[in-house]
Amino acid sequence: MIELRALRKVFGDTVALEEIDLSVPAGEIHGIVGRSGAGKSTLIRCLTGLESPTSGTVSIDGVDLTGQSGSGLREARRSIGMVFQHVNLLDSRTALNNVAHPLQIAGVGKAERLDKARELLEIVGLGDRVDNYPAQLSGGQKQRVGIARALAAEPKVLLCDEPTSALDASTTDQILGLIRSLRDRLGITVLIITHEMSVVREICDSVTLLADGRVAKTGRLAEVIAEPGSALAKDLVPLPPVSIDDSANRLVEVSLAGTDLPTVLTTAQKAGVSAEAILAGAVETIEGRQIGRLRFTVDSADEAQGLITALKADGIYAEEAA
Ligand SMILES: Nc1ncnc2c1ncn2[C@@H]1O[C@H](COP(=O)(O)OP(=O)(O)OP(=O)(O)O)[C@@H](O)[C@H]1O
Ligand SMILES: [Mg+2]
Repeated sequence: MIELRALRKVFGDTVALEEIDLSVPAGEIHGIVGRSGAGKSTLIRCLTGLESPTSGTVSIDGVDLTGQSGSGLREARRSIGMVFQHVNLLDSRTALNNVAHPLQIAGVGKAERLDKARELLEIVGLGDRVDNYPAQLSGGQKQRVGIARALAAEPKVLLCDEPTSALDASTTDQILGLIRSLRDRLGITVLIITHEMSVVREICDSVTLLADGRVAKTGRLAEVIAEPGSALAKDLVPLPPVSIDDSANRLVEVSLAGTDLPTVLTTAQKAGVSAEAILAGAVETIEGRQIGRLRFTVDSADEAQGLITALKADGIYAEEAA
């Protein structure tokens, strides 16, 4: 559905995007993460045609956006809905009229656009709020109106730039639940830019990490998280913070990828390290697979090496942690 090939974007002497290849199949929810300045917004601007790539191609639903202009670009843009961190609703219009607004611009007749707007507000759970003005709605409700508005032109792709960054945790969960249900009901393809790893964990099927304008990592969420030793995996499933009072202690981090908890514990036991030595752990089940990491504390460098060697001999990934 979304296809980027050898995408490159240069601003003066800043290379914002370089050699970006990315395919997001129809109906998938794909997350884009990366530090500030990594190129996330530039990527999304290239997808909406707001920015034209220096080279490479961007196609959505088989239509190449690069090289399109005027009516061709407007037509292609209709297959894309946008959701932003700040909704920017028109304060002087009701929720209903905000959602109907893009349809009005597109020349859809009054009765038809109001019917469509009502139906969309129903879908996002605001059927009883159609006549409210933005000032009468909570942040989460406004974001729902924004999502309904983005869906007005029946896009095939929904691009979301930090859709939940301005919302509290429970409202975030509701909005993510809504996005997931839209994908399930409407088969829409979703691209989410976020700095919140919990958002990726919560709803993404696949994820791309951008670093310095390049794809540093991309893949199915379950595979990316399971990859032992990966920095992105550690960000996605963080261990709870621990403090050790004795600086002589050494930490050993063990990945559960390709193994399971009982096997790790048995092997550690054989190396003379008991389950009490586990300081912290994070375990999740994604796509039916248990993945995560454990952090052991041991008394000396020798003991740490012994544990790592024993685990590695059993095919378990382990490393000394700082
Ligand atoms: N219009 C522009 N002119 C010049 N440089 C730009 C322009 N837009 C982006 N850049 C540069 O391109 C790089 C990528 O910027 P981009 O806005 O895509 O980052 P980002 O990943 O969205 O960051 P953030 O998380 O802070 O929003 C940065 O070095 C930025 O300074
Ligand atoms: Mg940005």
